[in-house]
This record gives sequence, C-alpha cells and structure tokens, in this order.
Amino acid sequence: MIRMNEHFNKLQSSYLFSTIGKKVGEFQAANPSVSIIKLGIGDVTHALSAEIVQAFHAGVDELGDDATFRGYGPEQGYEFLRNAIAEIDFQARNCDIQADEIFVSDGAKCDTGNFQELFAQDITIAVPDPVYPVYVDTNVMAGRTGTFSKGRYEGLVYLESTKENSFVPSPPEKTVDLIYLCFPNNPTGATATKEQLTQWVEYARANQALILFDAAYVEFIRDPRLPRSIYEIPGAREMAVEFRSFSKTAGFTGTRAAYTVIPKDCLVYDHSGSGHSLHALWNRRQTTKFNGLSYPVQRAAAAVYTPQGQAQIHAQSDYYLENARLIREAMTGLGYPVTGGENSPYIWVEAGGDSWDFFDMLLQKAGVVTTPGSGFGRCGEGYIRISAFNHREKVLQALDRIAQALKS
Ligand code: MLT
Repeated sequence: MIRMNEHFNKLQSSYLFSTIGKKVGEFQAANPSVSIIKLGIGDVTHALSAEIVQAFHAGVDELGDDATFRGYGPEQGYEFLRNAIAEIDFQARNCDIQADEIFVSDGAKCDTGNFQELFAQDITIAVPDPVYPVYVDTNVMAGRTGTFSKGRYEGLVYLESTKENSFVPSPPEKTVDLIYLCFPNNPTGATATKEQLTQWVEYARANQALILFDAAYVEFIRDPRLPRSIYEIPGAREMAVEFRSFSKTAGFTGTRAAYTVIPKDCLVYDHSGSGHSLHALWNRRQTTKFNGLSYPVQRAAAAVYTPQGQAQIHAQSDYYLENARLIREAMTGLGYPVTGGENSPYIWVEAGGDSWDFFDMLLQKAGVVTTPGSGFGRCGEGYIRISAFNHREKVLQALDRIAQALKS
C-alpha cells in the first residue's frame, strides 16, 4: 500500500481557477444560449505580435534543417536570451544584474511554486493576504503549514493588505525567514513605491530574510516613479530573488516563457551556519529537473527585446490598460470603490458582502466571469477581481451587462 503525502489533505478541494472553471462550465451547460464573457483568470486574448511570430517561425525553421538543428539546450536558457534580458530589463535601468544570474523557464507559476524546495522545512514564511494562491499551496504541499481554519493556514505569517494600508503591507513586527511579495499586485492591482520596497529590503537585511519578488505584471507600470524591479532598491542583490514572465508582458500564456533572477550574492545557510549560494542550489535543482525551454520559444522571447518587439508589446499592454481604465470608470460610476487598474491589468472591486455570492450573481445575471476576492485569502472577502484581458468590445459588453445586473 503506497502512502500519500498527507499534506495534500490540508489543501482546499481544488485550485481557485479550477473551481471557477468548473462553476462556469456548469453554468454554460445549463444555459447554452448565454455567451459568457471571461474577465476572470488573467489570460491574454491578443495574438502574439508580428516581430515575435516571425522569430518563432525562424526558430522552427532552424530546427527543420540539419545544418542548424539543435537538441538539448542549456538548462538555464540560451545566452542570446539571457543577455537581452540582463541588458534591457535590468542594466538599462541601472540594476546590477548579469546574464548568468538569469534562469529562463516555462513559467513564473512553476518557478514561484518550485522555489520553496530550496529551503528548510521549519522556516517562517510571510505571505500577503490576499495572495496569488501558488505561493501558499506549494508550501502547504511541502508540509510547511498546519491545518486550514477560518480562511488561514496555521504557521504562516499573513501580511494583511487592506484598504487601510492601500493594499501594500508593511514588514511584520516578528522575524520571518522568507517573504513573498508581488508588485504590481495580483490580485489587488496595487503598486509599491521605492520607499515601500526599501522598507522591505531593510527588513530583510536586518532579519537575514529572503524576499521572493514576483514582478510578472511589470509591463503594466506606466508611472515612471514606480520601481520596476526589486534590484532598483540598494542592498536588494543579497536579499531578493525576482520572478518575471513573458505571459502577460508579451502574450505568452499559451506559449510559455519566464525567467528567475538569482543574484550570486544571495546566500542560504545550513544547520552549522555556513552560507551556500542560492544561485548554485537553484542551478543544481534546475539541471536535475528541467531540460530548458524550447529553442523556438526562446527565439520568440528574445524578439520581445528588439526595438520593434518592445514597441509592439507596449502597444498591447496599452490596449489592456485602456480596458482597465474603462472597467475602473464603470465600476466607480456604479458606486463600487476600486483600486488597481492604473499600473496593472487587475481591478480590485469592493463589492461588499460575500465574494462568491457576488461572483455567482454576475455569472447568473450578466454572464460575466470575475474572480471572487475571498479565493485569494481572508482579506479578499467582500471583493471581486476583474481582469482587463479581453477584446474591447467584449469588455464594453460585459460592463453594460454588469450595469444592468446591478441595477435590476
Ligand atoms: C491569475 O489570473 O491570477 C493568473 O492568470 C494566474 C497565473 O498567472 O497563473
């Protein structure tokens, strides 16, 4: 008889977006004539841009010719892509990050989920509330928490993100070892200033903690005062790992491409107090468990960094940001306070009452899918998240239908 990893029993019955998918599927089956509009999961709707498609094709063509064929690539990613990332995403913004500190992968979800493998079982972990569920669930699976009760896992330190702190939590009083942060935030759409991130880096330095900084939504930042990377903060090189994704940045949700930055100065400690390079540990992990991202996808990702590629992805994020503006305006006009949606594709709407009830009401009466805030944590209760990823006409139609539903 093979025994299971019983930590899985502590998890909520299914992953948030799977639960929503199931509910939407059931609603559609019962109401086949309703054309459902999805503003739930943050999945892009625009085609890959021309520059990216061309590079993707060229990569496939190379694989179709013996003279240019490639088999296994470097597990860490090809140099052409790591160089472009280091130069444009970091060095051009005066961040001291080198190409060999970048690990290309197939998703920030996988990387943020897998990264916890590098740490001891008994570390103290701080997570925002509300939170992208992957950070929490993967630590639950690994056995770093107690049981779930009243919307929280025993053993985690929750960083409450509420309207009182404008959805940007301050460092906790107590000492924690590992901190998950995400800005622009999923789900609230809130952004953190340089001063706020500086507080976190200072906390990490004072407490020998490590920050796992998820910057998957950085492409949506328009305010030039906002930091685009944790490495813009002095002292962050030793204290932070950064996760980035091409999914929302350049439409790669189906294509898959992301990367993780691990500065060589980041250390973790063994039981005797000796320091070990986090970069070396992740490299060991990746070379054991990952064979690299496919060559054509890396060619496609590198095209994001050409001048045309940059202009094209920027135009796409402008489009989604205009959707976000329309959603903000419409929901505010209907009397619902909102945050996010200015430097982020997510709009966090204070719906009042029970999040799942509001979600159900919008699905039933308007045929519009959103995400219930309580699915992201206890502090999300009373909110829904609306995603700006869709075609303009669908967004406008959804807003009309929501207005009708709320007025009826
Ligand atoms: C979301 O909707 O929160 C995201 O699409 C989930 C993800 O990126 O995995």
